[in-house]
Amino acid sequence: MSPKEWQTHNPSGSKRVIVTKTLPGARWLEVLAGSGSRVEVCTSPDILSVDEIKAAIGERCDGVIGQLTEDWGETLFAALKAAGGKAYSNYAVGYNNVKVDIATKHGIPVGNTPGVLTETTAEMAVALTFAAARRVVEADAFMRGGHYHGWLPTLFLGTLLKGATVGVIGAGRIGAAYARMMVEGFKMNLVYYDLYQNKTLEQYIADYADFLAAHGEPRVTCTRVDSPEAVLQQADLVSLHPVLDATTHHLMNAERLNLMKEDAILINASRGPVIDEAALVAHCQAHPNFRAGLDVFEDEPAMKPGLSDLPNVVIVPHIASATSWTREGMATLAASNVAGVLNDYPVWPDPNNILPFLGDNAPEAAPSIVNAKELGLPVATA
Ligand code: DGY
Repeated sequence: MSPKEWQTHNPSGSKRVIVTKTLPGARWLEVLAGSGSRVEVCTSPDILSVDEIKAAIGERCDGVIGQLTEDWGETLFAALKAAGGKAYSNYAVGYNNVKVDIATKHGIPVGNTPGVLTETTAEMAVALTFAAARRVVEADAFMRGGHYHGWLPTLFLGTLLKGATVGVIGAGRIGAAYARMMVEGFKMNLVYYDLYQNKTLEQYIADYADFLAAHGEPRVTCTRVDSPEAVLQQADLVSLHPVLDATTHHLMNAERLNLMKEDAILINASRGPVIDEAALVAHCQAHPNFRAGLDVFEDEPAMKPGLSDLPNVVIVPHIASATSWTREGMATLAASNVAGVLNDYPVWPDPNNILPFLGDNAPEAAPSIVNAKELGLPVATA
């Protein structure tokens, strides 16, 4: 066991599950206790190293709930397998920190937590958008600094978003939720890029345009374009929502930043390495009217030199999913993934419809196992 602090719940459980960070709420512990598991939780806020997690897995461990800050690859999945482990769940919807192919090689199902952070994360992207557009953080610092000596016509001029064009790169669950909020809330036109057409989103916006027209207001539009470049060139603000992989690493580099309008806004609540952060710093330094709102960073928790000095950038510490409801829901889903596998339950068929797991009488299934197909796991009937 590593020297870090650990707390044990349900000590008489016959299975052993380790959880590498304290999770919010109580339901998740009940779920794991219900599967007959003794649960050992690391109470230290420090990010555990691979060696520390390996030591915690020890000689006998049935399942693990891990964090997006941890490197789940050969060392840890081999250690988990050797300890008799049967299940791993990331406490996140994103799993770029997990080598799923290696888990599959070791026969270990990998869970994630979709569905409960869609709206929450999109809301934070909206909050960052408006904080950047209306210079909320700069103005707050100005007030606190005692610099406000009276109303002025030119004080903190920002950007009006109503009727402008919002760009979304990656129109999956979160990107589409953000797009709907911006289009519906602020009557913006949408231009989006995604490998796949999002017909539901397009229909939603077409219906909303009909609604506006029926009320004598200008219609909003939705345009799917065939490249990220087209979004960057057309939009007044762009929010990034792709999955991080080799194809999206440094998607936003110096060249693409230069395609954006001089006074555009760039939002990122996906994963830090989607942006070449040093290039963004240089771009924001050179274009004072360009603004960015960032929830995620390339080398978290560090920031690239110069980023925190920029008045035209709003920065928050990867908290887009940080509401109590969402984080407790994520804990319940992660626990249900591990408990479901340990109970030999089948896999839930629809990770887009996960809310039944949060209420009473949760389904007897593992809610979201990303390598279920590769492992040939049985699928439940919804
Ligand atoms: C995720 O789930 O992938 C977020 O980044 C953290 O909630």
